[in-house]
Amino acid sequence: MHDVLIIGSGVIGMSIARQLSATQYDVAIVDRDVPGKHASYKAGGMLGAQNEFTEESDLFKLAIESRGMFPLLSESLMNETGIDIQFQDSGLIKIAHSKEDVESLRRQYNFLKQNDPSVKQLSPEDLMHLTNGNVKPSYAAIHIPHDGQINANAYTKALLESLNMRRISRYHHTEVQSIERNNGYYSVYTDQQPLIEARKIIVAGGAWSSQLLKNYNLHRKVIGVKGEVLLLENDELNLSETLFMTNGCYIVPKQPNRFLIGATSEFDNYSVGTTKKGLNWLFNHACERIPELKHSRILKEWSGVRPYTDNEVPMMDQIDDGLFVITGHYRNGILLSPIIGRDIANWLISGIKPPHYSSFSVSRRNNYEVYH
Ligand code: GLY
Repeated sequence: MHDVLIIGSGVIGMSIARQLSATQYDVAIVDRDVPGKHASYKAGGMLGAQNEFTEESDLFKLAIESRGMFPLLSESLMNETGIDIQFQDSGLIKIAHSKEDVESLRRQYNFLKQNDPSVKQLSPEDLMHLTNGNVKPSYAAIHIPHDGQINANAYTKALLESLNMRRISRYHHTEVQSIERNNGYYSVYTDQQPLIEARKIIVAGGAWSSQLLKNYNLHRKVIGVKGEVLLLENDELNLSETLFMTNGCYIVPKQPNRFLIGATSEFDNYSVGTTKKGLNWLFNHACERIPELKHSRILKEWSGVRPYTDNEVPMMDQIDDGLFVITGHYRNGILLSPIIGRDIANWLISGIKPPHYSSFSVSRRNNYEVYH
């Protein structure tokens, strides 16, 4: 019998496990695949704590605090595992892709500058200057200097390596089929024998979390939003800032001489693999803004599935005695993972819900039904 079983070994599940590993708890993780195969490993790695938010909210506060945890986290993962998660504090430029987007970008700028005077509007000349002449101006642009980035692939590997060095049991290639409550503990049935038992369960299964909780009739659901991504190599392009267009296309410079181009958004799509249509969309929009990218070599293409909820508010709640659901981080799982790891581990240990987490309840009315 484990004290805690975490279902899902993406960055959210692994970050919670890493925090809990400092306690006396017997912690285990179960994953239907091997770790680092899905959305976490495939993400662009932007730490867009300001880029992704347009108004004050509890999630925005978490995002800002979590972004601030990356410098120390990257150092401690490096010391522990020798893996460099390539944290870069190199800023992000957000560009209005069309005339219609100018007003919403201006509103976002007005919101962001209230808390951070370093956020600036960029004239076409400022934009050219900041990007060494590489970025073609569009209708409007702002500079967000503190939105950095990491290499999501390396981050996933570093978290996994860190867990390997700690006392965490792991069940791989083990797909959870159902979770049943007993008196004081849970039985987790999987496609493997035997079943797994634990006193507490954390469901951190990303876009698949709702399917794992079918016998809990939760009012809020999580659905998958597929994103396709392209990795280019270009020795001539000298650019360190991330570029984010309001149509959702972004360019994230990676070491060495690489540029990750993301991402399409296809709702309720859980499929794996890229399409010609998706890749053309990415390549054409990236080259429209940075013409030099036309001369790149294509290194790789892939897809991932983001966990989306209505209003893009994550679900982080205790839905039964000792059964937690921690999902729905949609576009911001990498960014939010350090603070969620800390807060959920503390919640489990202390029994006290962290401040502000009532915003993330599965049902704000708290009247969901449970079928045992
Ligand atoms: N955070 C970027 C994306 O979800 O595509």
